[in-house]
Amino acid sequence: MSVRIIVAKDYDEMSRKAANIIASQIIMKPDSVLGLATGSTPIGTYKELVKKYENKELDFSEITTVNLDEYKGLSREHDQSYYYFMHDNLFDHVNLRKDASFLPDGTKADSEKECAEYEAKVASLGYADLQLLGIGRNGHIGFNEPGDVFVKDTHVVDLTESTIDANKRFFASADDVPKQALSMGIGTIMHAKTVLLLASGKDKAEAIKNSFFGPVTPQCQGSILQFHSNVIVVCDEDAYSLVK
Ligand code: PGA
Repeated sequence: MSVRIIVAKDYDEMSRKAANIIASQIIMKPDSVLGLATGSTPIGTYKELVKKYENKELDFSEITTVNLDEYKGLSREHDQSYYYFMHDNLFDHVNLRKDASFLPDGTKADSEKECAEYEAKVASLGYADLQLLGIGRNGHIGFNEPGDVFVKDTHVVDLTESTIDANKRFFASADDVPKQALSMGIGTIMHAKTVLLLASGKDKAEAIKNSFFGPVTPQCQGSILQFHSNVIVVCDEDAYSLVK
């Protein structure tokens, strides 16, 4: 087990440190497969990466990306779809090839088939060289919600109340938040050669404590990362505040 925890002063410092780690991955392996994440946490990191690209410090032309998850039922044009988010926050601002980014498609009628095809796609790429993760207040990674098991492959997930509640701020009301998503499984994530997990704010403190300083249990899906051989956590002081 190898978990390195870097505690940043605040969100901006967390974002700069995370961007530097991703930048060094791109510099050391220009044809890396980057596993990417959505949510509010990585937005600052993506801004820093765009800045580095604009300053000609980074070249994305050989990079391939895969994303953790997508809401079921949202079209790619929907401004809360993760496809839209990734284009808006990163893809449209750097020199990634148009055919080099992959996300599960939440609009396919047969979601199970889409999940199997997505898993096969990620596997064919050799899985992520570096997988960026946020973490849910309930310890979820991707949309792997607390439960009795760790699901291995990309699968359809029923979102928990906690997740719907956390994400309703982006929708007109809680009723508009999709109730299901397609998510990489814990096995898909654990195949990544490096995992970079970000957390900011007091409402993530419990998840950080339980994931890295508690028992490994599917009730806190992030805790499986204690078994990964190369995890870097970059969190701010608030997210670290429950660790003694
Ligand atoms: P957030 O979401 O970055 O919007 O807090 C993280 C997550 O739910 O994994």
